[in-house]
Amino acid sequence: MFDIEAIRSDFPALNHHQQQGIVYLDSAATSQKPQCVIDAVSHFYENGNANVHRGAHRLSSDATKCYEQSRAKVAQFINCHANELVWTKGATEAINLVAYGLTPLVGKDEVILISELEHHANIVPWQQLAKRSGASLRAIPVDVDGIINTEQALELIKELKPKVLAISHASNALGNIQQVETLIKAAKAYDAFTLVDGAQSLLHLRPDVKALDCDFFVFSAHKCLGPTGIGGLYGRYPCLEALEVFQTGGEMVTKVSIEQAEFNPPPGKFETGTPNIAGVVGFGAAIDYLSTLDMEQVREHEMQLFTYLHQQLAQFSQVRILGDLNNNIGTISFVVSGEHPYDLATLMDMEGIALRHGHHCAQPLMAALGVNGTVRVSLAFYNNQADVDAFIAALANTLEMIA
Ligand SMILES: Cc1ncc(COP(=O)(O)O)c(C=O)c1O
Repeated sequence: MFDIEAIRSDFPALNHHQQQGIVYLDSAATSQKPQCVIDAVSHFYENGNANVHRGAHRLSSDATKCYEQSRAKVAQFINCHANELVWTKGATEAINLVAYGLTPLVGKDEVILISELEHHANIVPWQQLAKRSGASLRAIPVDVDGIINTEQALELIKELKPKVLAISHASNALGNIQQVETLIKAAKAYDAFTLVDGAQSLLHLRPDVKALDCDFFVFSAHKCLGPTGIGGLYGRYPCLEALEVFQTGGEMVTKVSIEQAEFNPPPGKFETGTPNIAGVVGFGAAIDYLSTLDMEQVREHEMQLFTYLHQQLAQFSQVRILGDLNNNIGTISFVVSGEHPYDLATLMDMEGIALRHGHHCAQPLMAALGVNGTVRVSLAFYNNQADVDAFIAALANTLEMIA
């Protein structure tokens, strides 16, 4: 049984918020952390705290063991081999790593294909790659509601024969789930490198990178119950091997002379300097926690809440809901005609509702939708119906106040 109250009690911040009269509906920005993650991080600093992959002493070998155990757990969670998983600071760094690493492999007459609904993290690194390589950057368009038409996208792939396809699994601004498997399969017909931005999908969809059949998959731990400052890159092993190294220095090398250096095989060749060890350990605890939950029940709960949310929201005639409500991770973006999203979010904060407003680091999407920003409600499995009711009551008050 999915016991929402038991789950909520695992998240100390939710209890704190409740005492403060705050309802957290901003999980797409960052998720809350269960107690076991907080404990794992402090346990590491209190009891272990040594650097990894260095030192003969037992504290260092214990820290290395925990660090590598977390890699194995996360790898199992997304269905890859541990040596196909590179730790990064987060999704942004992982995309930068790939876009930089592909520099020698992308030619000036080639096409890098993204979509109009990408987060800036999945746009700007490709612009930079286009500048370095002379390749052109193109984007799959969205319709008036911000939805990618898969048939149209397939036509575009056929026409452009891209060298790179980089696409989000789920949109942070609208919550839409893209048909990434279909697009990847089409792009593979032209030997494209394929990258899936899984920053928003890891928590909600439990992606299986082998089933997606992508070459690269990136994510951030903090959006999936883990600490900030840690995330990862899955890469199909030959693809990781083919990438140019990104950042260089200690630890990623096997042999260094003044003139040159030899690099570790992946994933080590991408991990230089002292890593975020406590972050990795904390993320391992987050994955342990998630693995105890029944994914089907989690998804059912999120979708029940989501349906309830958009049905309630649809009652306000002034509200325009954007995005794909049929394929969604549980995130709703909306605009109210004549009202600035910032004003709405500020008034909602006064009512105790924590929301995100603005362009959501997706300015090309906002331009395509013809809006300057939206108000976004993003749910996670630890939200309950009372959270949605509180949001709807606060919105009713706010809209009445500004009418
Ligand atoms: C879809 C998507 N991609 C990439 C990112 C960047 O993630 P981070 O800031 O954790 O690197 C985000 C963050 O909001 C996101 O939602």
